[in-house]
Amino acid sequence: LNAKSLQGQHWVVTAGPTVEAIDPVRYLANRSSGKMGYAIAEMASKAGAEVTLVSGPVSLDVPFGVNCFKVESAEAMLRKVQETLRDDSVFVACAAVADYKPKTVATEKMKKSGDEGLTIELSQNPDILKWVAGETSAFCVGFAAETQNVSDYAKSKMERKGITMICANDVSRDDIGFSCDHNELLVFYREQNITKEQRIGPASKVKVAEQLIELIHQVRPS
Ligand code: C5P
Repeated sequence: LNAKSLQGQHWVVTAGPTVEAIDPVRYLANRSSGKMGYAIAEMASKAGAEVTLVSGPVSLDVPFGVNCFKVESAEAMLRKVQETLRDDSVFVACAAVADYKPKTVATEKMKKSGDEGLTIELSQNPDILKWVAGETSAFCVGFAAETQNVSDYAKSKMERKGITMICANDVSRDDIGFSCDHNELLVFYREQNITKEQRIGPASKVKVAEQLIELIHQVRPS
């Protein structure tokens, strides 16, 4: 990759967790640090792409040259993706989107009542990646964070979501994945109706991002 490899291309990358409000002071969230998505946005921009990063709340600096929109909920993330995505974009769904959100958001801070437990009813969030794959012709790359049967789950997820490439991440290991600076991906992709696989890393998330971008560049029909 050089500074012009992705010139003329538009990439949309989602990153970080989504947070789903329970009441004005509480939310449901997850452990995503956003590092992998930010590294992909940074390296795609360095390779000449116009990059839009749609990010949940994280404590990372926005990479130079990247256009970043901060959002909180999955619904807000979906709206921002819909607003910014073009039909010829590359869409990299790196965000750890909450599958569920509280069905209702209390307008005032919830009070503890007696000695009883508390049940919060949840409803499903929209699947951003599935929407993009179904409704647009963007080239879609998904991530699959799994703790077991990593490659089987990843391959079935690729089918289910209708995407061309999926990066499987074993989040049960504490040397790679969530929060840390290193990662190892097992990437599955469809080329001429055959499912192929490539291992990337273990390496720094920046190096992994660079190699993943190269692979996308090679596989994506131009
Ligand atoms: O189904 P699962 O959450 O494991 O799928 C992971 C992939 O789908 C990731 O690429 C993630 O960014 C994306 N995703 C999404 N919207 C959701 C759930 C997951 O874009 N609501």
